[in-house]
Parts: sequence; structure tokens; C-alpha cells
Amino acid sequence: MKANPQRTAPPTPAASSPGLRILLVEDSRLHAELVEHVLRQGGVDFSIVRVENRERFQEQLAQAPPDLILSDYALPAFDGYEALAIARERAPDVPFIFVTGTMGEEVAIETLKSGATDYVLKTRLTRLVPAVRRALRESVERTERHRAEDRLRRSHEQLRALTGYLQYVREEERTRIAREVHDELGQALTGLKMDLAWLASRVPRNGRSLHQKIKAMSAHIDATIQTVRRIATELRPGILDDLGLVAAIEWQAHEFQTRTGLPCVVTSLVKDTIWDQDFTTVFFRIFQETLTNIMRHASAARVEVRLAEDGGRLVLTVHDDGRGITEDEIASTRSIGLIGMRERAALVGGEVSLAGQPGQGTTVTVRAPIPGPGQPGLAPPRTGLPHENPDHG
Ligand SMILES: Nc1ncnc2c1ncn2[C@@H]1O[C@H](COP(=O)(O)OP(=O)(O)OP(=O)(O)O)[C@@H](O)[C@H]1O
Ligand SMILES: [Mg+2]
Repeated sequence: MKANPQRTAPPTPAASSPGLRILLVEDSRLHAELVEHVLRQGGVDFSIVRVENRERFQEQLAQAPPDLILSDYALPAFDGYEALAIARERAPDVPFIFVTGTMGEEVAIETLKSGATDYVLKTRLTRLVPAVRRALRESVERTERHRAEDRLRRSHEQLRALTGYLQYVREEERTRIAREVHDELGQALTGLKMDLAWLASRVPRNGRSLHQKIKAMSAHIDATIQTVRRIATELRPGILDDLGLVAAIEWQAHEFQTRTGLPCVVTSLVKDTIWDQDFTTVFFRIFQETLTNIMRHASAARVEVRLAEDGGRLVLTVHDDGRGITEDEIASTRSIGLIGMRERAALVGGEVSLAGQPGQGTTVTVRAPIPGPGQPGLAPPRTGLPHENPDHG
């Protein structure tokens, strides 16, 4: 069967046109037939559409994107270089091979630099089939690589969204439990204390052992109230929501100092502003995690904390004078605590950097853009996962 030089198969629908869909930019019918002949001899299963000017080329790219473009270099009405530029823009993944009678080495190199896949001289058409096969192989590999990269990126985005969601839910939960523990238990205990006082006023003066018992019970209730307050504060310090980040960091540093005996000095160059709650929480939780690490790993004698603003970003620096974190520890995939800190910061568009000097200590720096008024630091979960909160519906 003699191939129709213009079209051996309808361009659409793609699925019904078998084999490789080739778009051939060629003004000479004879050369086109030669190319087809060589391909057929080489066992390539294909359908071909020949065009010889820009309009038809663009039309074909738009209507029936090919699997492969073969193009002459010098055409009377069109120029191969321009075809290449158009193809790179409209169909960047489609391999583009120049099949030309006139191409000096310099021009050839230039076209390859501009994104052509290969070039074959018409005087050496035996190279055509191997060149086509190689181009297609590479194209498949490229497509697969792109797909794999895409999948990886998507899965990373999902993971990040999930992390954000989990942090959000966890923080909500902690806030709710802290409030309930504080309010409900606190009130119940205060009620008990008042009842005891009432009892004490009713017990006869000479009931010494009863009075002693009531006193002991009252002291016990006081201690329990303190415990309840401590638990609520550890879940989520009210100071964070009421007085803001700077106050909460100062408070946490003081707690740390009391617990460990290590001086923990806070210098704040920012006004104690109450920023968006999620933004504040991110900094506060990273700070807590950093102090925990210092307590567990640093063998430090002193901790210095600095809060500053730098070009619309809040910068928290925590320096300890301990053994110094190593590069391996910073980069390790097992440093889940550090990964969590980075992910938290990423939730508000920020970042965490760590630096250690052997025997000189470790510096942790957290930076994130300060959200403007009314602009949330942390977008509510974007996971599409169900998130219901009956308390804050
Ligand atoms: N301030 C520090 N000084 C020295 N080493 C540190 C410091 N902070 C972290 N490291 C090192 O980095 C490692 C990773 O820290 P990371 O917080 O990720 O894990 P972790 O504290 O061991 O465990 P967790 O998951 O409970 O936080 C630590 O195990 C420790 O070896
Ligand atoms: Mg840790």
C-alpha cells in the first residue's frame, strides 16, 4: 500500500491510530516518502502527518499532539529552528529530531543546546531508526521520571498537610483538655474546700481530732489544686494565649531554670505582641522541644535565648554552651524531634536551622514571617480529612 504523503491515518482520536504518531515538518514530498520508507524498513509502526508551514504545524500540535516530531531544517516557508522553539513551548516532552540535508556541526550543536533531541543527515538515513528508537526510549524514561517526581512531591505535600493537621488537632485537644481540667476540676476542688470550711464551722470546738482531719484534708485539696493547675499549664500554658509569646517564653525559661538549675537568660528585642495563636504556638512548641533537647543531650552550663525581628520575620535563637550537636545528628533521618521542629516551622512558612561547634555548644535558630493582623499564621488543615470540633464548631 502506498502511503498517503499527507496523512496515513486520521490524527484523532489518538487511541484508534495505531503505532507511533509522527509529525513531519518537510516541504519535499519525495523526502517525506523517503523518510517513511526508511522507517517502515526499520520496522517502525507509525502514522505520519506532514506539514510544511507554521500554521499547519501549530494546528497539528494543538489538535493531535504527536509522539515524535521529525523536522527538516531549511524549508522555503518555515524554518526548523522556529519549529523547534514552538515545539519546546507547546509540547516540551515530545522528542524533536532534525532530519536535514544541510546542517553544519556548529548549527547541529546549537540546535541540540536549544532542546532538539537529535539530528540525522538525509545522506545518512540509516541513522534515522536508531535515533528514533533512542529518542523514544529516553522520552519514556523522562516521562516516568517526571511521574515519579510528581508522585514524590504529592506524597510529600500530603505528608506535610497531615503533619499540619495532626499538630492542629493535637493543639486543639490540649487546649480543650487544659481548659476542662482547669475549670471543671478546679471548681470541683474549690467547692470541696468550701464544704470542708462549712463542716469545720459546724464541728464542736472540742472535736480536736475532727478539726485536725479537716485541716489535713484542706491541705490535701490545696495540693491537688496546685497539681491540677500544673497539669493544665503543661498541656497549654494560659500565659501563651493571655500574655503572648514573649511572656510565655520567659515563663518557660524560668521553669527550665528552676527544674535544671541552669541559668536560662532571655533577651527580647520585640514588643510583647499577641500574634496569631497558631504562629505563637509554633514558636513556643519549638522552644520547648529545644529546651528538652538541651536538658537531655547538651551537658550545658548556660542557655541564652534571643527574640528579635528581622525584616518582617520573627527570629528566635537558642544557644547552649554544651557539647555541640554534630552535622550527622542534624542530618540524620532518625532525628525525629528535629524533623518535627522543621515541619512545625514550615507550617507557618518558616524554617529552623541548627549549628553545632564541638565543645562550644549548639545554636538553634527559628525564623518565620510574622503574620499581619487578621492573617492566620497557620492555615486551617488543608488535608480534606474530616475535622470536627464540637466545642469550636
Ligand atoms: N542541644 C543539643 N546539644 C547536643 N546535641 C543535641 C542537641 N539537640 C539535639 N542533639 C542531638 O541531636 C539528636 C536528635 O535530636 P532529636 O530531638 O531529633 O531526637 P531526640 O531528642 O534524641 O529524641 P526525641 O524524638 O525524643 O526528640 C539527639 O539525639 C542529640 O544527639
Ligand atoms: Mg528531642
